[in-house]
Amino acid sequence: MAAPRVLVVGATGALGRPVVRLLRERGVPVRALSRHPEKAADLAALGADVVAGDLTDIASLQRACAGVQRVLAAAHGLLGRGRWRSEAVDDAGHRALFAAAKAAGVDRLVYTSAHGAAPDHPIDFFRTKHAVEQALAASGLPHVVLRPTAFMEQHVHLFNGKDLLDKGKARLIGPGTKPRNFVAASDVAQFAVRALLDDPPPFQRLSLGGHGHHSNTQVAQLYAREAGIPARIGRLPAGIARAIAGVAAPLHPGLARVLRLSALPDDAYGERFDGAAALEREHGITLTTLEQFVRGRVAESRARG
Ligand SMILES: NC(=O)c1ccc[n+]([C@@H]2O[C@H](COP(=O)([O-])OP(=O)(O)OC[C@H]3O[C@@H](n4cnc5c(N)ncnc54)[C@H](OP(=O)(O)O)[C@@H]3O)[C@@H](O)[C@H]2O)c1
Repeated sequence: MAAPRVLVVGATGALGRPVVRLLRERGVPVRALSRHPEKAADLAALGADVVAGDLTDIASLQRACAGVQRVLAAAHGLLGRGRWRSEAVDDAGHRALFAAAKAAGVDRLVYTSAHGAAPDHPIDFFRTKHAVEQALAASGLPHVVLRPTAFMEQHVHLFNGKDLLDKGKARLIGPGTKPRNFVAASDVAQFAVRALLDDPPPFQRLSLGGHGHHSNTQVAQLYAREAGIPARIGRLPAGIARAIAGVAAPLHPGLARVLRLSALPDDAYGERFDGAAALEREHGITLTTLEQFVRGRVAESRARG
């Protein structure tokens, strides 16, 4: 049977990129949607059909869904503002995507929610993820929900270890003491591909996380140890982060959201996940450890010089 054609919304993201790569390696036809198709030249080079589109532009979603059988929703507007504020992208935009997919006869949509998404979460973004899961369940569209913990590519590297490697100092918000679970987006991509291609889908709703729990301070210390450099860590006190968020909110609600999220007390919501061994056992996918991930980033940094 011919492989289904897959639309990846968020194809240029930390999750979308490895999903497109894995699908193309299997010869699956992929349509890769981006607001900025010029950012997706690497995906076009893999043979993906890169199309311009925007979750806030319903006509572009209708065009993107035409002729595809499967859709991966892997985009978000956590940090967005103005036209691309979270409410427009994460809530209304996703409801519009589900409607467009259903009207086009898509036979499965895989939605990337988040571990911990709940109606009483202290941060609106996670409440939205929960509400959108509910909307998808009520839509009548066959679907799978992925609920990953924080991606290593962003929360371990981009927001933490990268500055230590590039500038000699990590910059953390708050005390950096909360035990957190991290998962490699490249590992989540393997589960996403199974959810998209396996018939029937191997799971309907899956929480995904990596091994163990580490605070942001421990992550920075691990980078320093692996790189053989001092663990210099700058800390923006939580109270100052909240004050900046208050000032920034009208102009940049996405920045304010991330500052508030990072400045919450450790017990405001849990980021623990204990299911990594079971995931490996049940799905035969080996998950990247934090140490492996950090070692890889340190090696890349050394190779760049
Ligand atoms: N990062 C994490 O730690 C984490 C944890 C749990 C769940 N998730 C979820 O996993 C999914 C993927 O996240 P990620 O971290 O891989 O994303 P990311 O690297 O931050 O990239 C965001 C993606 O969203 C797309 N996007 C943003 N606004 C859009 C709009 N208006 N229309 C169409 N596309 C838009 C961007 O595409 P263009 O800029 O090319 O248009 C980009 O590909 C999201 O649903 C996210 O909430 C992420």
